Amino acid sequence: KSALNIVKMKKMKAEGTPLSMVTAYDYPTAKLAEEAGVDLILVGDSLGNVVLGFNSTIPVTLDDMVYHTRAVARGADHTFIVADMPFMTYHGNIDETLRGVRRLMQEGHAQAVKMEGGKEICAAVEAVVKSGVPVLGHIGLTPQSVNQMGGYRIQGKDTADAQRLMEEAKALEAAGAFGIVLELVTEQVAEAISKELSIPTIGIGAGRYCDGQVLVFHDIFQYASPYINKRFVKTYGDVGSLIREGLENYVKEVKDRSFPAENHVFVADDHVLDSLYG
Ligand code: KIV
Ligand code: NA
Repeated sequence: KSALNIVKMKKMKAEGTPLSMVTAYDYPTAKLAEEAGVDLILVGDSLGNVVLGFNSTIPVTLDDMVYHTRAVARGADHTFIVADMPFMTYHGNIDETLRGVRRLMQEGHAQAVKMEGGKEICAAVEAVVKSGVPVLGHIGLTPQSVNQMGGYRIQGKDTADAQRLMEEAKALEAAGAFGIVLELVTEQVAEAISKELSIPTIGIGAGRYCDGQVLVFHDIFQYASPYINKRFVKTYGDVGSLIREGLENYVKEVKDRSFPAENHVFVADDHVLDSLYG
């Protein structure tokens, strides 16, 4: 199992060693992430956008998350895997929340779950932590509430917003979260929160001073990601172009019969041929 755990993560923060996290949704991407030495894998509900083709994370179901988490776990057996609790699966009664968590852990083989929100989810966070499951918080831009927030906007731009984010972060730490994702938060506010907490912050579009960074796999590899021109994303490879050009060549070679070539075929003995044509 994973060499990393939540105690080590806290220690890494104290020592100033950043945590690297990337999303993965299937066996091959998880395997590559593990081989590359990524600290944590997030099976994000960004699955809805980048893999399933929806325009938000709201349609993603618990079944979807379990299915994809299982595939990721098969590819990255030695990496700490966090799975997102999807839309509306942790806002009802605690029993329902725990049933969802059980499925992600027991069927999906995650090591922890992530939940979006501030004080309003702290009771749920506390219950999950008490059940023995590490919880990663997620504040700032929380895509599951996009309809409430009125779009994908930068958070922590004014004083009231900055104070609200700080309070949410402290409340989540008090509720037992082992870390907090800060999404699309101004750099100074993310820095202040990171300094204030003893648990690590993991930023996405939250500047240079978080205790770790997370990015979406399909974004950083231009893998047909629906997001373009995101300031906070850096491209680490253009997989989209590679695959598109490769497929164009494949189609062309099938059409002009240059594929398959002699070295791709299996040859039978001469007498087989004789038997067929008489
Ligand atoms: O679903 C996801 O990919 C996420 C990250 C953006 C933090 O929640
Ligand atoms: Na998510």
